Amino acid sequence: GKDKELIRDSWESLGKNKVPHGIVMFTRLFELDPTLLTLFNYKTKCGVVPECLSSPEFLEHVTKVMVVIDAAVNHLDDLDSLEDFLLNLGRKHQAVGVKTQSFSVVGEALLYMLQCSLGTGYTAALRQAWLNMYTIVVAAMTRGWAM
Ligand code: HEM
Repeated sequence: GKDKELIRDSWESLGKNKVPHGIVMFTRLFELDPTLLTLFNYKTKCGVVPECLSSPEFLEHVTKVMVVIDAAVNHLDDLDSLEDFLLNLGRKHQAVGVKTQSFSVVGEALLYMLQCSLGTGYTAALRQAWLNMYTIVVAAMTRGWAM
C-alpha cells in the first residue's frame, strides 16, 4: 500500500549512498547516547566520535546496519522471511553488550537521517511508515536478544 510506496521511494537514492547516510545516522546516535561509543572499541581504541567515524571496522558496521535496512525495504512484502536472520542478529548484539533500548535510539537516529536527507519529503505519513517498519525489525531483534 501507501506505506510501502513511501518507504521504497524515499530509500531509492539513500540506499545507493549507504556510508554517507549511515554516518549522519551514527553521528546522531552518539549525540543521543554517547555511551554507545564504548561498545565500538574493536581493536583500535575509538573513544571520540571523529576517530570512531574514520575507523574501518566502525564504517563496516555502519554499512552492515544500512544493509539490514536495505534488506527490510526489499522485503516489505514478506518481512517474516527475515525473522531468523533478525533473531540471530539480536542475539549477537546481546553478546556484544548492546541493550535492547539502544535499538530504539538507533530508530530515532534513522528518522533524523531521513529528515536531513528528504527535507520537505519528510512528512508525518512517511515518518510513521518508516517507524512501523523499523519497529518490526527491532521487535524480531529484541526477541532474539532475549533468547
Ligand atoms: C555487529 C554494535 C545496532 C547490524 C555488531 C557488532 C557490534 C555492534 C559491536 C560486532 C562487531 C561488528 O560486526 O562490527 C552495535 C551497537 C548498536 C548496533 C552499539 C547500537 C544500538 C545495530 C542495528 C543493526 C545492526 C540497529 C541493524 C538493524 C549489525 C550487523 C552486524 C552487527 C549486521 C554483524 C553481525 C554478524 O557478525 O553476523 N554490532 N550495533 N547493529 N551489527 Fe550492530
